[in-house]
Amino acid sequence: MENRIYIFDTTLRDGEQSPGCSMNIEEKLRLARQLQLLCVDVIEAGFPIASVGDFEAVKLISEKIKKCTIAALARTVKLDIDRAWEAIQGAVKSRIHLFLATSDLHLKYKLKKSREQVLQDAVWAVKYAKSLCQEVEFSCEDASRTDIDYLCTVVEATIDAGASIVNLPDTVGYAIPDEYGAMFRMVRERVPNINKAILSSHCHNDLGLAVANSIAAIQNGVRQVECTLNGIGERAGNASLEEIAMAIKTRHEKLGFKTNIDTEEIYKSSKLLSSLTGMMVQRNKAIVGANAFAHEAGIHQDGVLKSPITYEIMTPQSVGIKHTMLVLGKHSGRHALKQRYAELGYKLSDDELQHAYKLFCEIADQKKEVFDEDLEAILETGTSETEEVYHLLNIQIVSGTNLRPTATIELQQGDQTIVDSATGDGPVDASYKAIERITGVVGKLTEYSIKSVSLGHDAIGEVFVRVEFDGVQYNGRAASTDILAGSARAYLEALNRALASKKRKEGQQKK
Ligand code: KIV
Ligand code: ZN
Repeated sequence: MENRIYIFDTTLRDGEQSPGCSMNIEEKLRLARQLQLLCVDVIEAGFPIASVGDFEAVKLISEKIKKCTIAALARTVKLDIDRAWEAIQGAVKSRIHLFLATSDLHLKYKLKKSREQVLQDAVWAVKYAKSLCQEVEFSCEDASRTDIDYLCTVVEATIDAGASIVNLPDTVGYAIPDEYGAMFRMVRERVPNINKAILSSHCHNDLGLAVANSIAAIQNGVRQVECTLNGIGERAGNASLEEIAMAIKTRHEKLGFKTNIDTEEIYKSSKLLSSLTGMMVQRNKAIVGANAFAHEAGIHQDGVLKSPITYEIMTPQSVGIKHTMLVLGKHSGRHALKQRYAELGYKLSDDELQHAYKLFCEIADQKKEVFDEDLEAILETGTSETEEVYHLLNIQIVSGTNLRPTATIELQQGDQTIVDSATGDGPVDASYKAIERITGVVGKLTEYSIKSVSLGHDAIGEVFVRVEFDGVQYNGRAASTDILAGSARAYLEALNRALASKKRKEGQQKK
């Protein structure tokens, strides 16, 4: 049996649909490009019937991403399948991913259908999807709680109907490893045509077992693993891609499998996802957390200095962490900056370098040492391709324990400079109110987070905001040593996005 494990990334579907992880179309494409660099085999780009936005994103990703298979999710109904196919037909390699629940629990309470009806629906849908798309995957939702005899019947029938990948999810994160592995072993033993399909796992992390379950599945014949970056996903999340890829690589001698993942792209991928969604990973997160390669205990530090393998089972470099502590300062030039970015794995265009250098100079003016983390945060500031209708020129805040905070904001709009002031519940609120007065656009702040990206009291603060304009959510982010200026810039980025999207829509209506 082949020892290659195919990585099916569902960050843009199962991950993105979870609370706090939504991305706009431009952000989804950026992430898909990074997933391509990471060399995942399949990108599940979305669920096209769910919304026009989802459909457009899947379509765009299908047109732009050439090296990975693009999958679109669909229920077993014609409307879903047609819409999924419409979205992915432009892809070099496309796949329709069908799902239907098979557990008695779901049949009784959710679908209100008999086993026979579900079997018929599944077979019909696979045949129909196959008449449109070369590659069809069928998922038995809630497989881990499905009667094994019935599960084998559905698997056999859907393979006969044309499914070449059969996925058996632990939808509710209920299984434990030997049980989940045994389910695949039994399916392989009992289903006569099983060799005509690739078996796939899809695990949720409700009991914290998603990665362990995925590994158990691989040890029992699974050759495709469905997972997400940083383990984002419904409820407690999905199996984490980086943990699975590094477990397979680090324990190759024990497991004997390999993936195509370029593990040196892992850290960058994780960072990009966090900065796009504002969903940070905890410091002690395996592989990509800030402490994952930090040794604090004296005995450990001593051991690592003598020989890293005493306490390090994999190197930071193998997942793409290339940080040195101190790098650049205010005397560093554009060339040094470009060089350092290249060492960190970022190839900057002239425009990107110009933008980064401008921010770098502002930051280097305010703090002595600019760390690699700061450089990464700079890249995430104002890098969206959105036109900047309003640009922050100045911000002045008056605030104190017994003072009502007042913000004065100076914005540039084209050739015009506009200044106004407002008071608010806090300095951030006051500055957002002042922006509202200048622009006349009212937004509702639905999320605000701030995090220090490097060390010291002069560290850069990275601000992430989500703001609702006309019922639609827009993200904004900015990095600055001045957290109030950063907060204003992040808000303006979301506002500029909303204005750009309004302009796009108006343009389309005129056509
Ligand atoms: O968890 C699940 O069962 C799913 C299916 C749609 C594959 O996400
Ligand atoms: Zn799922």
